[in-house]
Amino acid sequence: MCGIVGIVGQQPVSERLVDALKRLEYRGYDSAGVATIIDGALHRRRAEGKLVNLEARLKEEPLSATIGIAHTRWATHGAPTERNAHPHFTDGVAVVHNGIIENFAELKDELSESGAEFRTETDTEVVAQLLARFRRDGLGRREAMHAMLKRVRGAYALAILFEDDPSTIMAARNGPPLAIGHGNGEMFLGSDAIALAPFTNEITYLIDGDWAVIGKTGVHIFDMDGNFVTRPRQVSTAAAFIVDKGNHRHFMEKEIYEQPEVISHALSHYINFIDNQVLPVSDDIDFAKVPSLAVSACGTAYLAGLIGKYWFERYARLPVEIDVASEFRYREIPLSPQSAALFISQSGETADTLASLRYCKEQGLKIGAVVNACESTIAREADAVFPILSGPEIGVASTKAFTCQLAVLAALAIRAGKARGTVTDDQEQALVKSLTGMPLIMRQVLNSIKPKIELLSRELSICRDVLYLGRGTSFPLAMEGALKLKEISYIHAEGYAAGELKHGPIALIDENMPVIVIAPNDRFFEKTVSNMQEVAARGGRIILITDEKGAAASKLDTMHTIVLPNVDEVIAPMIFSMPLQLLAYHTAVFMGTDVDQPRNLAKSVTVE
Ligand code: M6R
Repeated sequence: MCGIVGIVGQQPVSERLVDALKRLEYRGYDSAGVATIIDGALHRRRAEGKLVNLEARLKEEPLSATIGIAHTRWATHGAPTERNAHPHFTDGVAVVHNGIIENFAELKDELSESGAEFRTETDTEVVAQLLARFRRDGLGRREAMHAMLKRVRGAYALAILFEDDPSTIMAARNGPPLAIGHGNGEMFLGSDAIALAPFTNEITYLIDGDWAVIGKTGVHIFDMDGNFVTRPRQVSTAAAFIVDKGNHRHFMEKEIYEQPEVISHALSHYINFIDNQVLPVSDDIDFAKVPSLAVSACGTAYLAGLIGKYWFERYARLPVEIDVASEFRYREIPLSPQSAALFISQSGETADTLASLRYCKEQGLKIGAVVNACESTIAREADAVFPILSGPEIGVASTKAFTCQLAVLAALAIRAGKARGTVTDDQEQALVKSLTGMPLIMRQVLNSIKPKIELLSRELSICRDVLYLGRGTSFPLAMEGALKLKEISYIHAEGYAAGELKHGPIALIDENMPVIVIAPNDRFFEKTVSNMQEVAARGGRIILITDEKGAAASKLDTMHTIVLPNVDEVIAPMIFSMPLQLLAYHTAVFMGTDVDQPRNLAKSVTVE
């Protein structure tokens, strides 16, 4: 989703602003722009498409200034054209915005009636127009800012320049995050600390309702009532992460191959590898006492939660209520205040997940956050944070965050089972041993299946539709495999519970429809084999992903069989994720799509 950066300092800013935008590229965008103040006048350069286009613009017509704001736009209102690209200028005011101004239509009508001329189709322009109107009405810059914030409704992170003040950036937050970076005689602003990592690691996060006046040497922060407030200054760890592709062609590929290492790291936070026990987790959530667990998340994080549900119910006998956050937040679910709620999010900033968290908080539930970004809003608003420790995930398609989420959920479910007396010491030992051995098996799988996957990907790349089937935890995994394929290759793919096949999707089966069946030789294997028979009987092309025992037992004529090692049921979802991720990746590579930044997608979805 949109990225914002700002610098007010002593050195030229244009190049540094673009560099910082590059560090936000992973969020997804379709146009970009920079605004500065030179000799008392606002100047801007904007371009459709990727940042190289903006860089080319800046090369043709450089901007030499020591203050500036910049933006990558992920279009919501208005096409991704240069005209709609931020910054928006109106009468000496420049605005960049991440979010959606929900009452923009009403404000636009009101402003148009009083003579404002709108030049774009964006919701953002009302912010610039409102500020300009308040200035014309005689308000000072801060008063105009405060008055504008009182009028806009919705989600926003804003950075603003006033032409008549070349030494100040104003900013405001309600929803999407904003981090203020403290430098030496320079101050910075960014959508996250990763964007600011080359400049500073001293960060102050604005909270919802805050607005700020940022000068070269410091920042003044105000609340919605205009009261001066202080927010903590903290040292960010974002700079510690090297964000490059290493020897890989894409971030996604790098992140797939990183999984054995990052999962070990994640597990070491939850497991005592010597005693084969799960370590105690936060005291804030007493798994022994909670009557149920509410889980909410979006996209891949939701599918991780769905697999987690199987584990919490099976190992801890703890009922789980789970839904995608965009539904959860509006369902008015009656929840017991004695229950706990878990929110799963890589970015920790997903708007719907955050809204679900706040709903549960209002109902008095204890809140746990399974997050990657531990400085994020979701992490900060939770009672207990369960970090997934996968390191920055840059590819829009989630891979290592998914398997680390699974590893953490598995550990939490076992811990909950211990606390509730439903997992014995022996069971704990066995489950933990399986988790401990998982990174090595993952590495073996990643090293061995590539040739087969590449072959298969070539065939998939000419298909129009693909069906994924699975039972038990392989059902959410089927949905995740389908999500991965569709988001980066644009091939239509659906994941179904294998048992649902005859209730509809079987009508789709013919010789053109590959059916990817995820079937470890577990409790459900025979039933899944029956479903495969039904596919085979209708001429469907089966791609079976199974283990050694399953391959020996299935006796089915498949188009391809990918054979993985036999593994314990608890780690199967993580191990079976490897071929699914690689299949999506190589298919997209064959098709020549933009693997790391697929069309229309954003990494961090900070609007509803
Ligand atoms: O940052 P979050 O984990 O909250 O993001 C949730 C989804 O937007 C995300 O998982 C999305 O579905 C990915 N693109 C899937 O690969």
